[in-house]
Amino acid sequence: MRLMVFSHHRGWAIVVVLLQCAQLMTTLAQKSNCALTVVEKTEGGITQDDAEAMVTEDSIAEEHPEVVQPTDQWQTLKPGQAVPIGSHVRLNLQTGQREVRLGEEQMKYWIHTRRQKKADAESYFGADELKHVLKKIKEDSGPLSKDSQDQNRESKASQFRPLEELKRDMAELELLVETDVQVLRRLLDQLNSTNSTTEGRLQILLELEYLVHQVDNAQTLCSMGGLKIILGGLNSSDYRLQESSAFVLGSALASNPTVQVEVVERGGLQKLLVLLATPRPLSVKKKVLFAAASLLRHFPYAQRYFLSHGGLQVLSELFHADARGALRVRIVTLLSDIITEKELISQAAADQTLDSTDEELLRQYSKVSLYEGLLEGGWCSLVRELLDSTEHDWREKGLQAMLAMSPVCLERYRLDVSLPVCLGSLKVQYQKLANRERTPGEGNGGYFEEILDLLNMLELKLK
Ligand SMILES: *[C@@H]1O[C@H](CO)[C@@H](O)[C@H](O)[C@H]1NC(C)=O
Ligand SMILES: *[C@@H]1O[C@H](CO)[C@@H](O)[C@H](O)[C@H]1NC(C)=O
Ligand SMILES: *[C@@H]1O[C@H](CO)[C@@H](O)[C@H](O)[C@H]1NC(C)=O
Repeated sequence: MRLMVFSHHRGWAIVVVLLQCAQLMTTLAQKSNCALTVVEKTEGGITQDDAEAMVTEDSIAEEHPEVVQPTDQWQTLKPGQAVPIGSHVRLNLQTGQREVRLGEEQMKYWIHTRRQKKADAESYFGADELKHVLKKIKEDSGPLSKDSQDQNRESKASQFRPLEELKRDMAELELLVETDVQVLRRLLDQLNSTNSTTEGRLQILLELEYLVHQVDNAQTLCSMGGLKIILGGLNSSDYRLQESSAFVLGSALASNPTVQVEVVERGGLQKLLVLLATPRPLSVKKKVLFAAASLLRHFPYAQRYFLSHGGLQVLSELFHADARGALRVRIVTLLSDIITEKELISQAAADQTLDSTDEELLRQYSKVSLYEGLLEGGWCSLVRELLDSTEHDWREKGLQAMLAMSPVCLERYRLDVSLPVCLGSLKVQYQKLANRERTPGEGNGGYFEEILDLLNMLELKLK
């Protein structure tokens, strides 16, 4: 539930929970900046507070008419409209209009929130418990009939509740709410129990995946012995469990060195390599690749192991087997990220801006012999193949990777007579798209403009 997101701010989390649950059963109207009042909803009809809440929402929209609230569906953007950071904007090539949707990350939260909102009221609070708590607040703040509301507006002070009372209610609430640690414990116990069905396990893994995005939750999972169970799930005979376990693993690993180290120590890297190298459904490979990428990023020790155990060959086989699939772009992105990491460290070393911990990193990265492997594995030409795709995204990732690989591949690129022609025609195409994308009055920096920049940079390198 939302609470987990805010677990560092327990007090606020309670408020959020309270607000969310309150919205489900009662109407909660916000009268001023601080004062909250709670009125139990009459069966059926809309209360005055309902109406007020709607009005408030409407007027917020009126104050900021230019900001579009994206959903999971594409919607057309009108000129002058803005979108929240993180949204996914694309140009509809048929209509020439810009469209917006929630970004990948936002989508995850959106879907989760919707799912959770339904679940929250049922599982975390009994309806009676919640009613009790809310009633208590209501009693404390005095009865609120419609008649008394005007009066209350004049004497807002009466709506503020003494802090001590609020704290006491929150302490009561806290007893009702599971902490993240408790939830993790419960989920792991369920996962570990021989009683759970496959469907049940899949559901548990989905909940875990959400929780372990938070760094400390992922570490708690480790310290509870959860990794052993998750890694065991990779071995399941059911592909869906393999897939979901890899998904949890990847999310727990992302930017989390503690988990990265423990997974390697538990032999997780070998497992992932084996899963990538042996026949599996594409859905499993995707998530395993995600987990492997999360494990390798910013972890030179794992990179070295991966490379010295045939990781590049495994990726190359995957790449060849996936002629039109989405794995290619993920593989190339992973490689170019690793190259860029190493380049940045070397660059910092050359500029002498490293401190002693970076020195150690530099030493570790120097043992990662990536370039030789890339050359031998024919990656210079594999990456170039992405340019032949019709997908903008793939071309973009291909160009980024070609630039990242240029220290190794430049000579090969120069020998490729079809490359300048290809770049030339792409430039013409993206120049057109960038022109159309540009709305009057706006600066540059659109998506197609960025691809155009990449094309220009690559051309420059080839000269
Ligand atoms: C397994 O399920 C049975 C009945 O559904 C229950 O009595 C038992 O306690 C469960 N065992 C475990 C280990 O959860
Ligand atoms: C899972 O169950 C086994 C025995 O049933 C137990 O030894 C182990 O500690 C459990 N693991 C976790 C993480 O709860
Ligand atoms: C996973 O499966 C492989 C082969 O199917 C087996 O050799 C290995 O012992 C299994 N590992 C665990 C932890 O079950």
